[in-house]
Amino acid sequence: MAKKDELRKIATRVRRCRRCHLAKSRTHAVPGEGASNAKIILIGEAPGKSEDELGRPFVGYAGRILDEALEAAGLNREQVFITSVLKCRPPKNRNPKTDEIEACTPHLESQISTISPKVLVALGRFGAKGLIGAMQKIAELRGKKLDHNGVPIVVTYHPAAIIYNRGLQKEIVTDLKRAERLASK
Ligand code: URA
Repeated sequence: MAKKDELRKIATRVRRCRRCHLAKSRTHAVPGEGASNAKIILIGEAPGKSEDELGRPFVGYAGRILDEALEAAGLNREQVFITSVLKCRPPKNRNPKTDEIEACTPHLESQISTISPKVLVALGRFGAKGLIGAMQKIAELRGKKLDHNGVPIVVTYHPAAIIYNRGLQKEIVTDLKRAERLASK
């Protein structure tokens, strides 16, 4: 089956998913979107309010910051695939729980194996936890050699972290450029 069709099938499965209790409180599940042949998959934490309302990833404030960072790194949304570890919004945007991550990860794994990207970019601590299991500070994970079944992982800050520290924008751009370099190898 073509990658596009396979991704569509996964998205349908996500929208109908009832693997955890977040299914009860969501408005829309957010499977993710982007190029089916993307060399880079960006993995966030979980949908927020705007994403839950629209069923699309990174469409709120964090999305605007992400778009700016992508542009500064010479990338755009059409080239990459954007998703998150949790496909449904946790109530009041609380942190994802371990059982929710475990229930949701098979969807992410299917997306990764379908797209077969060259690089995975984990946005924030929970993006990283979804991929490597461990919960460590971003500052400790940045620049480390990590991989997921042989696919290199670039860990960077979550775009929402910029709200509290504008200086991190530069670091996200640096990390996205590194991802782009790895993807072009
Ligand atoms: N934060 C995320 O991790 N994902 C979104 O889609 C929006 C905000």
